[in-house]
Amino acid sequence: MGTITIDGRKVEFTDEKNVLTIIRKAGIDIPTLCYHSELSTFGACRLCTVEDDRGRMFASCSEEPRDGMVIYTNTGKLKKYRKLIIELLLAAHCRDCTTCVKSGDCNLQTLAHRFNVTNVRFENYKEKRPLDISSPSIVRDPNKCILCGNCVRVCEELQGVGILGFANRGSDAMVMTAFERPIATTECVNCGQCRVFCPTGAISIKSDKDAVWDALADPNVRVVAQVAPAVRVA
Ligand code: FES
Repeated sequence: MGTITIDGRKVEFTDEKNVLTIIRKAGIDIPTLCYHSELSTFGACRLCTVEDDRGRMFASCSEEPRDGMVIYTNTGKLKKYRKLIIELLLAAHCRDCTTCVKSGDCNLQTLAHRFNVTNVRFENYKEKRPLDISSPSIVRDPNKCILCGNCVRVCEELQGVGILGFANRGSDAMVMTAFERPIATTECVNCGQCRVFCPTGAISIKSDKDAVWDALADPNVRVVAQVAPAVRVA
């Protein structure tokens, strides 16, 4: 229990587990890509970063509230910082937004508009990776993954399946199945929860505007071997 001063306003808290929840309780819209109250805190995207009265910046989703804290959620420094994060995420992201099945419903795209990111100054250094269309229910496009870890955590923590995990480090980090097996050969139960929690088009439902068939028809798109026959849902 205690009080935090947020943007000059005193806000009381009781048992909130992190500063982000209190900021939201105060009605302040703070951007996030990797935080979900149902999942463990990962602290990957850093978009929820705030600044305290000593100029210290920290991810509000990963910080426990303390009585007497004084924080600011939207300083000039934070605005620049968030814009740069979005630019960096876009730089490492396939930018086929006009043809993406998630266009118009993509959190990254929404944030790029919100923060007026009209130019990406950095090249996409990532090697193009094949789509996984082996599953009868979902399509995984690793080129659109922003490493928020939502799919990894929902699969493990909510569904108790755990077919996805992180591999490698730094700029080579990626989400994949064990030994990069096609999803159809794993214990995936086709629940679709990973798609629900994915903020971009990295995971789409097969019926999403027939993503699979579009992918198959594109000679420039490499796909992994199809193990199970795809089910076309009208
Ligand atoms: Fe806090 Fe992503 S929401 S780091």
